[in-house]
Amino acid sequence: MSTEPTTIFVCTVCRQGDDADSRPGQLFFEALHQRLAADAEPTLRVQAVECLAVCKRPCTVAFASAGKWTYVIGDLDANSHVEEIIVAAKGFAATGNGIVAWKERPACFKKGVVSRTPPLGLDALKN
Ligand code: FES
Repeated sequence: MSTEPTTIFVCTVCRQGDDADSRPGQLFFEALHQRLAADAEPTLRVQAVECLAVCKRPCTVAFASAGKWTYVIGDLDANSHVEEIIVAAKGFAATGNGIVAWKERPACFKKGVVSRTPPLGLDALKN
């Protein structure tokens, strides 16, 4: 198990369709922040950000940790996916390289994954 902390970045400025007043990402961030504060989970932290460049697939989050692949996940709903994202992030945190086995990924992670980006210094032959 990796001891590096995992950050869940959450885009808080996504809008739902043409509704200028909707802030689904802000709702997702607040729900996740509240849930993690209640859980006192020391390996996960949540960080609000403005745009992850996946604006047409709100809500959007990214998992990142030193020395690991970074995953961007979209199509999330604050009412139904917060617990799945916590499970996914804990799975990510438990890996040495950030790659979570497909069969261990919650449904929203499988369906919503947008991209993965290698860590700096990756030795491609070993990953
Ligand atoms: S505004 Fe949320 S990803 Fe761009």
